[in-house]
Amino acid sequence: MAIIERPRRLRRTEAMRRLVRETTISAADLILPVFVKENATEPIPIASMPGVVQHSPDSLRAAVEEAAELGVGAVMIFGVPEERDDSGDAACAVDSVLAEAVRWTKETTGDALPVIADLCLDEFTSHGHCGVLAPDGSVDNDATLGVYRRMAVVLAEAGSDMLGLSGMMDGQVGAVREILDEWGHTDTALLAYAAKYASAMYGPFRDAVESQLTGDRKTYQQDPANAVEALREVRLDVAEGADIVMVKPALPYLDIIARVEDMVDVPVAAYVVSGEFAMIEAAAQAGMIDRERAILEVLTSVKRAGAGIIATYWASEVARLLR
Ligand code: PBG
Repeated sequence: MAIIERPRRLRRTEAMRRLVRETTISAADLILPVFVKENATEPIPIASMPGVVQHSPDSLRAAVEEAAELGVGAVMIFGVPEERDDSGDAACAVDSVLAEAVRWTKETTGDALPVIADLCLDEFTSHGHCGVLAPDGSVDNDATLGVYRRMAVVLAEAGSDMLGLSGMMDGQVGAVREILDEWGHTDTALLAYAAKYASAMYGPFRDAVESQLTGDRKTYQQDPANAVEALREVRLDVAEGADIVMVKPALPYLDIIARVEDMVDVPVAAYVVSGEFAMIEAAAQAGMIDRERAILEVLTSVKRAGAGIIATYWASEVARLLR
């Protein structure tokens, strides 16, 4: 048999492989998530996330300066408050640790590094849910929207370039867009965690933000078994004004990323979450995999699936590697 097609011809040398490479990642594609701890005077390591810390003001400034200098695409800030309450009021204070961290970052890097503030209540509530509770203990969707609206104005006025809506309440994108526009913040962009699954992969994050959650988020985050439902969530968020839609986690949901990318005309992002990060770090520490190759392979796969933007705790490290 004559073999006419020989795909191996294009794999013969590194230069040849580079020539035909379909997917490349660059620093500008990456969002660096950071944690900022209220009243911290030095960075505090997070045991389940090797190399990741809860920042103090100074270490935050150093980290965002480095990210900007490396050409990282954006920084996404999560606040870790000292005090929590059951109303979510703590999240709406003009001097909340999150609003302050947005100001510190904007003072440091200005327009060189877009700042995304996490708009959700889970870090601020005493029960750890992403919304406020109804008397029967369920998460009250519409009451939560009222708190999100107040929080949105505070975070926009602190200087956020974008708000990351991660709470999975129905109508959250529309509610926040409406109040921002009313207050004149028409330029504050919205990154919607459109398809966010109730995932085991958020374990280390709960340490990182000292989450008080007992129970689970299955009444508002999606069932891992569903794909069509993700398309509905995305459709609604785009209709309500999402500027970017995100799928989260990334690796167990590459099929969702691909389907979402087919469907929308806004940029698609994906979040390689804390548990995905921790799995690779743990396997590498145990000598089971080549850490750098694994990281680049994972990020490349997420981009290949269709996410032009990737949130990853490795953002600055990878930006440096790619130099
Ligand atoms: C909730 C939120 C979570 C993450 C980002 N925003 C946790 C959750 O939904 O339980 C997880 C991110 C990660 O695991 O890296 N606002």
